[in-house]
Amino acid sequence: MPPTLQWGGRFAEQPDPALLAFGSSLEDDLVLAPFDVACSRAHVAALEGGKIVAERVASALREALQRVGEEIASGTFVDVARAAGAEDVHGAIDARVRELCADGESLHAGRSRNDQVATTLLLYARERAAQGEAVARDIAFALLASAKDELAAETLLGATTHWQPAQPVLLSFWLVAAAEPFVRATRRFADAKKECSRSCPLGSGAVAGSTLPLDREAAARMLGFSAPSRNAMDAVGTRDAALDVAHAFVRATNDASRVASELVIWCTPAFGYARLGDASSTGSSLMPQKRNPDPFELVRGAAAELVGAYAGALASLCGLGLSYHRDLQQTKRLVISAIERGLAALHAFSRALVDVRFQRERMNARAGDGYAVATDIADALILRGLSARRAHALVGAAVANAERDGRELAASDLGAAAAECGIDALDVPLDAAGSVRAKRTVGSTNPGQVARAIAGLEAELA
Ligand code: ARG
Repeated sequence: MPPTLQWGGRFAEQPDPALLAFGSSLEDDLVLAPFDVACSRAHVAALEGGKIVAERVASALREALQRVGEEIASGTFVDVARAAGAEDVHGAIDARVRELCADGESLHAGRSRNDQVATTLLLYARERAAQGEAVARDIAFALLASAKDELAAETLLGATTHWQPAQPVLLSFWLVAAAEPFVRATRRFADAKKECSRSCPLGSGAVAGSTLPLDREAAARMLGFSAPSRNAMDAVGTRDAALDVAHAFVRATNDASRVASELVIWCTPAFGYARLGDASSTGSSLMPQKRNPDPFELVRGAAAELVGAYAGALASLCGLGLSYHRDLQQTKRLVISAIERGLAALHAFSRALVDVRFQRERMNARAGDGYAVATDIADALILRGLSARRAHALVGAAVANAERDGRELAASDLGAAAAECGIDALDVPLDAAGSVRAKRTVGSTNPGQVARAIAGLEAELA
């Protein structure tokens, strides 16, 4: 048998190399290497605590693991693991420990790759959840910083629904709307991180626990878990907490993609609302004039990719029996792929975001386009006693007239409506800035409300 394989005694024939290669997860789980070392150190503590290995052996194992950890950190381990043709990173580390130390053969006592994979994946997912939480917080803070600048400048934006002109808002209001999901994302990452620390699978063995008196409490404590898992079968079979982390990444990249897609459109000359800096833009190999907001397009694409990976991970669990099945290797690959791509996309998004410059004059000039104050006029008629339906019809007719003449709404368009209310003239702002200031409700685009929202979000993030 190849020396890196952790099994083989019961087989008379050599394994088929093509099938071994098909079954290898090494390329997918190399990212887990440092977490396996931590997990293996905790297993040494469990062995030592249960007096299964002597102190001297435990020290030798720790020393070897220390060496492997250094090789991983320096980048040399990858080549060693690939050359050894290991089935997975766990086998590769075990083989390296056996190579480095005569007592290496004792490391795997009472341990299965089933509890090892489950524990290692949780340690990995927990660290990535913390990184996801940090980058989501950075994104939220960046959006809020920009919101404060644009609030001070009172930059306006023609808000749309269905991409059709709707109502004027402050650009800062849009920026707060973009920040809110990332504040929710930080909570989602924090919850997922907690879930990854609840229950330590290590010491569950393959499925039934162990006859060796492993000190599971010591191992769990060392790895930062609240407690050892309660049921070995569930512990080796579940991927729930890692999926929670992947889910948090799916959701956060999805949130980023919605902001990104709006910015992609705003960066087009037709809109001209935003300009992405040179450092974040890319050109064309053919068209010399091009400046493309590629990072935002790639974030959009990554969000779709994550949905696929996450759906695939869930699908790989459908109908699986409760304990370990090799299909879980596929689940792991998809979970890792979603998390790695998600983290990369969020980092890219956060970098590109701070390189966006809003074109204030153009935004201000367009904020009232498309009869965007029509709703305010109807509101004013309602406050003067007209029914909502009557007010809607009168203003709709005024809009149709103005549109036919190819002009904006004017005070003279409102004469008939004012008369119906029994007044000479309707006192309602017809400009976008006035419309924004006239908003009164909590959570509206009124500058005071936007300032309150920013303060509230900053307090929540602090
Ligand atoms: N490479 C496998 C995985 O990632 C390791 C677990 C193998 N366990 C087993 N019983 N064959 O899931």
